[in-house]
Amino acid sequence: MTNFYFSQTKLSSLTSSFREDPSTLSIGVFDSGVGGLTVLREIYAKLPQETILYFGDTARLPYGNRSAEEILQFVREIITWMVDQGVKMVIMACNTSSALALEQVQKEFKIPILGLILPGARGAVQQGRRIGVISTPATADSNAYGQAIQEIDPNIPVWQIGCPEFVPLIEQNRLHDVYTYEVAKKYLTPLMEANIDTLIYGCTHYRHISHILREILPSFVKFIDPATFVVSAAEKELEAMGLKNTLTPLPTRFCVSGSPEQFAELSKQWLGHTPEVEKVDLAVFSQISVCP
Ligand code: DGL
Repeated sequence: MTNFYFSQTKLSSLTSSFREDPSTLSIGVFDSGVGGLTVLREIYAKLPQETILYFGDTARLPYGNRSAEEILQFVREIITWMVDQGVKMVIMACNTSSALALEQVQKEFKIPILGLILPGARGAVQQGRRIGVISTPATADSNAYGQAIQEIDPNIPVWQIGCPEFVPLIEQNRLHDVYTYEVAKKYLTPLMEANIDTLIYGCTHYRHISHILREILPSFVKFIDPATFVVSAAEKELEAMGLKNTLTPLPTRFCVSGSPEQFAELSKQWLGHTPEVEKVDLAVFSQISVCP
């Protein structure tokens, strides 16, 4: 694995050369770690001509047992940095951030910011009558999916289960452990007892263990990945704003707050290659809470 560090000069010349045509600017995509790669995969499939700036806040994961205040602060720092890098749009590839910070940052920043909850809830309601949501404890406690679904159709019951062990297990690459299977069974049992017909991946990491979840749940249960719906929403928004890129995209730029080597090693199984990963220090952006 090669470690790759953009020099500041190279970066600013890159961003300034694209400023002339805003449609060629990157879309910022972020998560606490490798979960957002499931969203990135959808972007590659549906918006292959877009250039992506991916950020994983690996030094501070898991987000799922953080307070709402902490998550909002992290999200502000990340978006402030992304705006500084010259993105044209931000897709929160993190349900926890979407549940706890989306509304606030949409008020604070001028660029379009998309979250997963509403697109995911809409997608689920199109398919199911008894909906289960597995997510981080922070997302489950926020009742964001429950609320969003009730607003669309108050007759649909929703069961939300916080799954604190999943993200650490996935970030440790324990995707095929018997222990991970047992933990999954424990989390899914109340949903099977409730006889759900639809399951929302309420955390972007969980698609990485879909093989386990599918094995446990009965075959009639439909799986909803909010990533599919948020990327469709992003496409519509880009079209409406005249911001869809038509030129050849640049390679995805991967950045993390923790170890670039660890992220590269873990993510190669989903990316199909070992990515070059930069370490970014967001501390300088922590003083700036609202972007001009
Ligand atoms: N993948 C994120 C989510 O969708 C965050 C997981 C975490 O860091 O706890 O919620």
